[in-house]
Amino acid sequence: MARIIIHEDKGPKEVKVGKESIWICMCGLSKNKPFCDGSHKMTLDEEEGKIYRYKDNKRFEIKGF
Ligand code: FES
Repeated sequence: MARIIIHEDKGPKEVKVGKESIWICMCGLSKNKPFCDGSHKMTLDEEEGKIYRYKDNKRFEIKGF
């Protein structure tokens, strides 16, 4: 069983815990979920209107989705 989930955010969400900040992954690519590990940097040059798939730190455009 597999599923495709669309993530549109290109960066983490800051959550304040007391005086500290933690950064929650919103891009879906972190290998340390729920925390951001910087993997979102791969999404920064994504083009509007296109859908991508990421695997092994490589990006593939999905056409006809
Ligand atoms: S927001 Fe997903 S890795 Fe940073």
